[in-house]
Amino acid sequence: MKWKKIGDILIVDSKFSEDNIDSLKSIAAKHQVKSIIKVDKIEGQKREPAVSLIYGNETETIHKENGCLFNLDLSKVMWAKGNNNERLRIAKLVKDGETVVDMFAGIGYFSIPIGVHSQAKEIISIEINPNSYHFLKNNIELNKINEKAKYERMIPVLGDCAIEAPKYSADRVLMGYVKTTHHFLKPAMECIKDGGIIHYHETVPDKLIETRPYERLKEVAWDCGEREVEVLNIQNIKRYAPGVEHIVLDARIF
Ligand SMILES: C[S@@+](CC[C@H](N)C(=O)[O-])C[C@H]1O[C@@H](n2cnc3c(N)ncnc32)[C@H](O)[C@@H]1O
Repeated sequence: MKWKKIGDILIVDSKFSEDNIDSLKSIAAKHQVKSIIKVDKIEGQKREPAVSLIYGNETETIHKENGCLFNLDLSKVMWAKGNNNERLRIAKLVKDGETVVDMFAGIGYFSIPIGVHSQAKEIISIEINPNSYHFLKNNIELNKINEKAKYERMIPVLGDCAIEAPKYSADRVLMGYVKTTHHFLKPAMECIKDGGIIHYHETVPDKLIETRPYERLKEVAWDCGEREVEVLNIQNIKRYAPGVEHIVLDARIF
Protein backbone atom coordinates (compact mmCIF):
# COMPACT_ATOMS: atom_id res chain seq x y z
CA MET A 1 0.00 0.00 0.00
CA LYS A 2 1.35 3.44 -0.99
CA TRP A 3 0.41 6.67 0.79
CA LYS A 4 1.17 10.33 0.28
CA LYS A 5 0.46 13.47 2.26
CA ILE A 6 -1.27 16.30 0.40
CA GLY A 7 -1.65 19.32 2.69
CA ASP A 8 -3.05 17.87 5.89
CA ILE A 9 -4.74 14.88 4.25
CA LEU A 10 -3.31 11.41 3.67
CA ILE A 11 -4.10 9.67 0.40
CA VAL A 12 -3.84 5.92 -0.09
CA ASP A 13 -4.15 4.00 -3.32
CA SER A 14 -6.72 1.39 -4.29
CA LYS A 15 -4.55 -1.41 -2.75
CA PHE A 16 -5.61 -0.25 0.73
CA SER A 17 -7.40 -2.94 2.79
CA GLU A 18 -9.02 -2.79 6.24
CA ASP A 19 -6.03 -4.81 7.57
CA ASN A 20 -3.88 -1.71 7.06
CA ILE A 21 -6.10 0.65 9.06
CA ASP A 22 -4.13 0.51 12.34
CA SER A 23 -0.77 1.21 10.74
CA LEU A 24 -2.40 3.94 8.69
CA LYS A 25 -3.92 5.59 11.75
CA SER A 26 -0.50 5.69 13.43
CA ILE A 27 0.98 7.25 10.26
CA ALA A 28 -1.90 9.76 10.29
CA ALA A 29 -1.24 10.65 13.93
CA LYS A 30 2.52 10.99 13.33
CA HIS A 31 1.98 13.31 10.33
CA GLN A 32 -0.92 15.17 11.98
CA VAL A 33 -3.45 14.73 9.18
CA LYS A 34 -7.18 15.39 9.55
CA SER A 35 -8.44 12.79 7.04
CA ILE A 36 -7.41 9.69 5.14
CA ILE A 37 -8.80 9.24 1.63
CA LYS A 38 -8.62 6.22 -0.65
CA VAL A 39 -8.35 7.12 -4.34
CA ASP A 40 -9.74 4.23 -6.38
CA LYS A 41 -9.27 5.75 -9.81
CA ILE A 42 -9.03 9.01 -11.70
CA GLU A 43 -11.52 9.06 -14.51
CA GLY A 44 -12.50 10.76 -17.72
CA GLN A 45 -11.49 13.83 -19.64
CA LYS A 46 -11.85 16.04 -16.55
CA ARG A 47 -9.61 13.72 -14.50
CA GLU A 48 -12.14 13.38 -11.68
CA PRO A 49 -11.13 11.13 -8.79
CA ALA A 50 -13.34 8.35 -7.39
CA VAL A 51 -12.59 8.38 -3.65
CA SER A 52 -13.79 7.04 -0.29
CA LEU A 53 -13.12 8.54 3.13
CA ILE A 54 -11.41 6.12 5.49
CA TYR A 55 -10.87 8.43 8.43
CA GLY A 56 -12.07 11.96 9.24
CA ASN A 57 -14.55 13.85 7.08
CA GLU A 58 -12.72 16.75 5.42
CA THR A 59 -11.47 16.52 1.85
CA GLU A 60 -10.37 20.11 1.19
CA THR A 61 -6.85 21.25 2.03
CA ILE A 62 -3.99 23.58 1.15
CA HIS A 63 -0.89 21.82 -0.17
CA LYS A 64 2.54 23.48 -0.26
CA GLU A 65 5.01 22.55 -3.00
CA ASN A 66 8.02 24.32 -4.50
CA GLY A 67 7.15 27.53 -2.64
CA CYS A 68 3.56 27.57 -4.00
CA LEU A 69 0.20 27.07 -2.28
CA PHE A 70 -2.48 24.87 -3.83
CA ASN A 71 -6.03 24.87 -2.46
CA LEU A 72 -7.87 21.76 -3.62
CA ASP A 73 -10.61 19.31 -2.69
CA LEU A 74 -9.20 15.82 -3.12
CA SER A 75 -12.69 14.36 -3.61
CA LYS A 76 -13.21 16.62 -6.66
CA VAL A 77 -9.83 17.18 -8.34
CA MET A 78 -6.68 15.13 -8.81
CA TRP A 79 -3.14 15.65 -7.55
CA ALA A 80 -0.24 13.93 -9.37
CA LYS A 81 2.62 13.82 -6.89
CA GLY A 82 4.95 12.28 -9.49
CA ASN A 83 4.85 15.55 -11.51
CA ASN A 84 6.43 17.79 -8.84
CA ASN A 85 9.87 18.11 -10.50
CA GLU A 86 8.26 18.87 -13.85
CA ARG A 87 6.07 21.59 -12.33
CA LEU A 88 9.22 23.41 -11.12
CA ARG A 89 11.32 22.63 -14.23
CA ILE A 90 8.81 24.39 -16.49
CA ALA A 91 8.55 27.44 -14.22
CA LYS A 92 12.34 27.83 -14.38
CA LEU A 93 12.37 27.69 -18.21
CA VAL A 94 10.01 30.65 -18.59
CA LYS A 95 11.82 33.83 -19.69
CA ASP A 96 11.04 37.39 -18.58
CA GLY A 97 8.14 38.98 -20.47
CA GLU A 98 6.75 35.78 -22.01
CA THR A 99 3.09 35.09 -22.68
CA VAL A 100 2.30 31.53 -21.60
CA VAL A 101 -0.82 29.54 -22.47
CA ASP A 102 -1.53 26.56 -20.21
CA MET A 103 -4.04 24.49 -22.20
CA PHE A 104 -4.89 21.99 -19.42
CA ALA A 105 -4.48 24.18 -16.35
CA GLY A 106 -6.38 22.16 -13.72
CA ILE A 107 -6.05 23.95 -10.38
CA GLY A 108 -2.89 25.67 -11.63
CA TYR A 109 -0.45 22.73 -11.38
CA PHE A 110 1.95 24.43 -13.85
CA SER A 111 0.47 27.94 -14.04
CA ILE A 112 0.88 28.74 -10.34
CA PRO A 113 4.63 27.87 -10.18
CA ILE A 114 5.12 29.98 -13.34
CA GLY A 115 3.25 32.86 -11.68
CA VAL A 116 5.31 32.53 -8.51
CA HIS A 117 8.80 31.77 -9.87
CA SER A 118 8.99 33.51 -13.26
CA GLN A 119 8.67 36.99 -14.68
CA ALA A 120 6.17 35.91 -17.37
CA LYS A 121 4.16 38.89 -18.57
CA GLU A 122 0.91 36.96 -18.91
CA ILE A 123 -0.26 33.44 -18.06
CA ILE A 124 -3.52 32.29 -19.66
CA SER A 125 -4.79 29.20 -17.85
CA ILE A 126 -7.52 27.25 -19.63
CA GLU A 127 -9.54 24.62 -17.78
CA ILE A 128 -12.71 22.76 -18.76
CA ASN A 129 -13.70 21.32 -15.36
CA PRO A 130 -15.69 23.89 -13.28
CA ASN A 131 -14.45 22.32 -10.00
CA SER A 132 -10.80 22.67 -11.05
CA TYR A 133 -11.50 26.19 -12.38
CA HIS A 134 -12.92 27.18 -8.98
CA PHE A 135 -9.67 26.11 -7.24
CA LEU A 136 -7.55 27.65 -10.03
CA LYS A 137 -9.13 31.05 -9.24
CA ASN A 138 -8.62 30.47 -5.49
CA ASN A 139 -4.96 29.61 -6.08
CA ILE A 140 -4.31 32.77 -8.11
CA GLU A 141 -5.55 34.72 -5.08
CA LEU A 142 -3.85 32.54 -2.47
CA ASN A 143 -0.46 33.05 -4.14
CA LYS A 144 -1.22 36.78 -4.66
CA ILE A 145 -0.16 36.55 -8.29
CA ASN A 146 -2.33 39.34 -9.70
CA GLU A 147 -2.18 41.35 -6.49
CA LYS A 148 1.65 41.49 -6.61
CA ALA A 149 1.70 42.34 -10.34
CA LYS A 150 -1.03 44.99 -9.91
CA TYR A 151 -2.66 43.84 -13.16
CA GLU A 152 -4.41 40.67 -14.35
CA ARG A 153 -1.17 38.82 -15.05
CA MET A 154 -2.73 35.38 -14.66
CA ILE A 155 -6.01 34.96 -16.53
CA PRO A 156 -8.18 31.92 -15.75
CA VAL A 157 -10.41 30.80 -18.63
CA LEU A 158 -13.24 28.28 -18.15
CA GLY A 159 -13.61 26.41 -21.41
CA ASP A 160 -12.29 23.94 -23.97
CA CYS A 161 -8.69 24.67 -24.95
CA ALA A 162 -9.41 23.46 -28.49
CA ILE A 163 -11.62 26.56 -28.83
CA GLU A 164 -9.91 28.98 -26.42
CA ALA A 165 -6.17 28.48 -27.13
CA PRO A 166 -6.27 29.72 -30.76
CA LYS A 167 -7.66 33.06 -29.51
CA TYR A 168 -4.24 33.83 -27.95
CA SER A 169 -0.71 34.22 -29.26
CA ALA A 170 1.88 32.65 -26.96
CA ASP A 171 5.65 32.37 -26.57
CA ARG A 172 5.11 29.10 -24.72
CA VAL A 173 2.26 26.58 -24.76
CA LEU A 174 1.87 23.89 -22.08
CA MET A 175 0.08 20.67 -22.97
CA GLY A 176 0.08 18.95 -19.56
CA TYR A 177 -2.37 16.20 -20.40
CA VAL A 178 -2.00 12.52 -21.26
CA LYS A 179 -3.56 9.81 -23.44
CA THR A 180 -5.21 12.06 -26.05
CA THR A 181 -2.92 15.12 -25.99
CA HIS A 182 -2.15 14.75 -29.70
CA HIS A 183 -5.81 15.56 -30.51
CA PHE A 184 -5.07 19.11 -29.29
CA LEU A 185 -1.92 19.77 -31.34
CA LYS A 186 -3.74 21.82 -33.98
CA PRO A 187 -5.06 24.46 -31.50
CA ALA A 188 -1.60 24.51 -29.88
CA MET A 189 0.00 25.24 -33.28
CA GLU A 190 -2.58 27.97 -33.90
CA CYS A 191 -1.63 29.58 -30.58
CA ILE A 192 2.18 29.37 -30.64
CA LYS A 193 4.21 32.29 -32.07
CA ASP A 194 7.02 31.86 -34.57
CA GLY A 195 10.01 30.66 -32.49
CA GLY A 196 7.79 29.76 -29.54
CA ILE A 197 8.06 26.55 -27.49
CA ILE A 198 5.46 23.81 -26.99
CA HIS A 199 5.75 21.42 -24.03
CA TYR A 200 3.93 18.39 -25.36
CA HIS A 201 3.08 15.53 -22.96
CA GLU A 202 2.49 11.99 -24.12
CA THR A 203 2.17 8.54 -22.58
CA VAL A 204 4.30 6.51 -24.94
CA PRO A 205 5.65 2.93 -25.19
CA ASP A 206 9.38 2.89 -24.34
CA LYS A 207 10.50 1.96 -27.83
CA LEU A 208 8.61 4.91 -29.39
CA ILE A 209 9.84 7.68 -27.07
CA GLU A 210 12.38 9.03 -29.56
CA THR A 211 10.04 8.88 -32.57
CA ARG A 212 6.26 9.03 -32.05
CA PRO A 213 5.88 12.34 -30.14
CA TYR A 214 8.19 14.13 -32.61
CA GLU A 215 6.45 12.60 -35.64
CA ARG A 216 3.05 13.72 -34.33
CA LEU A 217 4.24 17.29 -33.77
CA LYS A 218 6.01 17.41 -37.12
CA GLU A 219 2.92 16.29 -39.04
CA VAL A 220 0.57 18.83 -37.42
CA ALA A 221 3.15 21.65 -37.69
CA TRP A 222 3.49 20.99 -41.42
CA ASP A 223 -0.30 20.89 -41.89
CA CYS A 224 -0.61 24.23 -40.04
CA GLY A 225 1.24 26.39 -42.56
CA GLU A 226 4.31 24.28 -43.34
CA ARG A 227 5.93 25.00 -39.97
CA GLU A 228 9.05 23.23 -38.71
CA VAL A 229 9.81 21.55 -35.38
CA GLU A 230 13.13 21.66 -33.53
CA VAL A 231 13.38 19.17 -30.64
CA LEU A 232 14.98 20.84 -27.62
CA ASN A 233 14.59 18.11 -25.02
CA ILE A 234 12.72 14.93 -24.15
CA GLN A 235 12.06 14.65 -20.42
CA ASN A 236 10.88 11.47 -18.68
CA ILE A 237 8.31 12.35 -16.02
CA LYS A 238 7.20 9.04 -14.56
CA ARG A 239 6.31 5.41 -15.25
CA TYR A 240 2.69 5.44 -16.45
CA ALA A 241 2.20 1.68 -16.93
CA PRO A 242 4.52 -1.29 -17.52
CA GLY A 243 6.53 -0.42 -20.63
CA VAL A 244 4.84 2.97 -20.98
CA GLU A 245 6.46 6.25 -19.95
CA HIS A 246 4.88 9.67 -19.38
CA ILE A 247 7.22 12.03 -21.21
CA VAL A 248 7.28 15.67 -22.23
CA LEU A 249 8.80 16.84 -25.49
CA ASP A 250 10.03 20.46 -25.51
CA ALA A 251 9.94 21.71 -29.09
CA ARG A 252 10.54 25.05 -30.83
CA ILE A 253 8.11 25.82 -33.68
CA PHE A 254 9.17 28.09 -36.52
C1 LIG B 1 -5.33 17.27 -14.08
S1 LIG B 1 -4.42 18.10 -15.27
C2 LIG B 1 -3.05 17.02 -15.47
C3 LIG B 1 -2.15 17.01 -14.28
C4 LIG B 1 -1.03 18.03 -14.28
N1 LIG B 1 -0.25 17.91 -15.49
C5 LIG B 1 -0.11 17.91 -13.05
O1 LIG B 1 1.02 18.33 -13.11
O2 LIG B 1 -0.51 17.45 -11.99
C6 LIG B 1 -5.35 17.97 -16.74
C7 LIG B 1 -6.52 18.95 -16.73
O3 LIG B 1 -6.92 19.17 -18.07
C8 LIG B 1 -8.32 19.44 -18.07
N2 LIG B 1 -8.84 19.28 -19.45
C9 LIG B 1 -9.11 18.15 -20.12
N3 LIG B 1 -9.53 18.43 -21.37
C10 LIG B 1 -9.52 19.78 -21.50
C11 LIG B 1 -9.84 20.67 -22.56
N4 LIG B 1 -10.26 20.22 -23.75
N5 LIG B 1 -9.71 21.99 -22.35
C12 LIG B 1 -9.28 22.47 -21.15
N6 LIG B 1 -8.97 21.67 -20.10
C13 LIG B 1 -9.08 20.34 -20.27
C14 LIG B 1 -8.87 18.45 -17.07
O4 LIG B 1 -10.14 18.84 -16.58
C15 LIG B 1 -7.76 18.47 -15.98
O5 LIG B 1 -8.08 19.37 -14.97
